[in-house]
Amino acid sequence: MSEVVRFGVSLEKELLDKFDRLIKEKKYSNRSEAIRDLIRENLVKREWVDGKEVAGAITLVFDHHKRDLVNILTDIQHDFYRIIISSQHIHLDHSNCLEIIVVRGKPTEVRGLANKLKSNRGVKYGALSIATTGKELV
Ligand code: NI
Repeated sequence: MSEVVRFGVSLEKELLDKFDRLIKEKKYSNRSEAIRDLIRENLVKREWVDGKEVAGAITLVFDHHKRDLVNILTDIQHDFYRIIISSQHIHLDHSNCLEIIVVRGKPTEVRGLANKLKSNRGVKYGALSIATTGKELV
């Protein structure tokens, strides 16, 4: 386990009050855990800018009745098979499908895949949820 260091932070009372309200809403038990999460969140964001390997999930909602769309989405995923860990397809109703594609790779490749999938006609919603391999975090 890493060494734990205590440090002091000076900030405006109004800002601290707002922070305390926020962490209460988010159910943090103390400021330290909330600050740890803020730091981790920012480190993960930076991994997506200049990191070597990231992990995440692409979520798509689409109409499978749209001509050729399912084939196009499948072809794209085959082109990127090296960075796709798994995918799950859920039939939401008669025409709507939800697909969750779990990815791991270089940030530019993962973003590229997400954009290629999202930009197809017939994709009603597409989102990239950024996460981390966890290797660089404590
Ligand atoms: Ni389906």
